[in-house]
Amino acid sequence: MLDISRLNTGRFEIFKEKTDLTKLLSNLAKENESQILAAHSTLVLKLENVELEVDPLRIEQVVNNLFSNAIKYAPSSTIEIGLKENVNSVMMWVKDTGPGISKEFQQKIFNRYEREKSLVAVEGLGLGLYISRQIIEAHGGEITLKSGPGIGATFYIIFNI
Ligand SMILES: Nc1ncnc2c1ncn2[C@@H]1O[C@H](COP(=O)(O)OP(=O)(O)OP(=O)(O)O)[C@@H](O)[C@H]1O
Ligand SMILES: [Mg+2]
Repeated sequence: MLDISRLNTGRFEIFKEKTDLTKLLSNLAKENESQILAAHSTLVLKLENVELEVDPLRIEQVVNNLFSNAIKYAPSSTIEIGLKENVNSVMMWVKDTGPGISKEFQQKIFNRYEREKSLVAVEGLGLGLYISRQIIEAHGGEITLKSGPGIGATFYIIFNI
């Protein structure tokens, strides 16, 4: 809730420093591993070596929400976390092979308090992706989603370099 009030009053700041994204992502993968296994999912890492100027705590917050979403909403699936550097961009992704997200819900998924009605039994506030989008946009980047019913969900984060 602290985050949302900061967002609303425009007191939302990011503190960039040179960050080893490979290490950041593999550490988070390790921290989330037991919960992933408890959800009967498998973790796959596809990480290139990439360093970038970002706010490491904010990026951790974004990736942890993507992990927790994959754990909660896509149990018994393969969760892949990836990192790749292209000519003008760095791309990170978190992919699952869960139930996927309907085209209709994809339109609103980054809005505040949006949660899929069929999943209300799973705990959550519907803020994680809203905050994530603010964080990534504050870095000049973009967060997008590719999904469909039955084909899982992949969240992409792209930073321009
Ligand atoms: N990997 C996924 N597969 C299927 N549905 C998802 C996935 N990730 C998110 N969703 C849907 O998007 C909604 C919004 O996600 P978001 O992270 O913003 O909020 P939350 O997880 O419900 O709560 P919070 O993150 O605030 O604890 C979820 O409630 C769920 O309906
Ligand atoms: Mg969430």
